[in-house]
Amino acid sequence: METVFDLQQLREKVRQWRREGLTIALVPTMGNLHAGHISLLERAREIADRTVVSIFVNPIQFGRGEDYERYPSTLEADSEKLSAAGLHLLFAPNLGQLYPGGMEDDTRVTVPQLSNILCGAFRPGHFSGVATVVTKLFINVAPDKALFGEKDYQQLLVIRRLTADLCFPIEIIGMPIIREADGLAMSSRNGYLSEEERSRAPLINQSLRSAAEALKAGGAITDIEREHTDKLAAAGFRPEYFSIRRLDDLALPGPADKRFAILVAAWLGSARLIDNIHVDLGG
Ligand code: PAJ
Repeated sequence: METVFDLQQLREKVRQWRREGLTIALVPTMGNLHAGHISLLERAREIADRTVVSIFVNPIQFGRGEDYERYPSTLEADSEKLSAAGLHLLFAPNLGQLYPGGMEDDTRVTVPQLSNILCGAFRPGHFSGVATVVTKLFINVAPDKALFGEKDYQQLLVIRRLTADLCFPIEIIGMPIIREADGLAMSSRNGYLSEEERSRAPLINQSLRSAAEALKAGGAITDIEREHTDKLAAAGFRPEYFSIRRLDDLALPGPADKRFAILVAAWLGSARLIDNIHVDLGG
């Protein structure tokens, strides 16, 4: 595995691969890698000749008062995991590389509509921060494929839309959520949970599965949403939303819709946890 820290070295490396006719897959991350991240890399290795993982904690996708300052940075341990998993190239830029014009009045990429609902409603500017940094990575790596986890399902849809709208010749691949044995979706933020909170955290996933069953049994969407929001609140979570949406675009479902995503965001202690599950009533 090779590690590069600046855009110049990154571009040289990918240019060389292109000259050799090799295909490239990109996995963007913020580091503190777990098995969810590694599953993306493993798939990337199967579908492309060369793999690039980026590690960059992107300040502009964090809101004021969010966890940017304490987001875990574990580059050495991450490098070891990536090397063991057979990565070709790690790109670990510093701030100046990706924000040469600062972060006050610089150019941003915004995917309207999708960015303002659900997580976007509670984290203003978040998806514009994600869309901006992913665009920079897409332009400089110029991968054939890029892989993203369905754990961040709204983010995946934002990236699909930006890729289509900006005409990037990149195939976006969504990957299944990797979970702990008790159902909790793996996340770097799980590390913020106390032992006691960690033991309660699987309720997030249990509530999604319970809501999926209720939806299949013909329950009314607003009733299911309210009931499960209340259940999480009663168990000491602070839910931001518990929402049943149309799978393809996260719009409010209409009577003809058969494919749904059930999405939840809830605070437990100082950790903001998100999860989602898909339901197909198509038979
Ligand atoms: P990060 O949270 O580090 O996640 C990097 C990638 O790993 C994302 O595509 C995310 O959906 C995926 N991922 C995280 N947990 C997962 C799990 N349990 N199972 C499967 N995939 C999982 O998402 C970001 O970073 C950033 O917003 C980024 C896209 C890098 C832009 O800064």
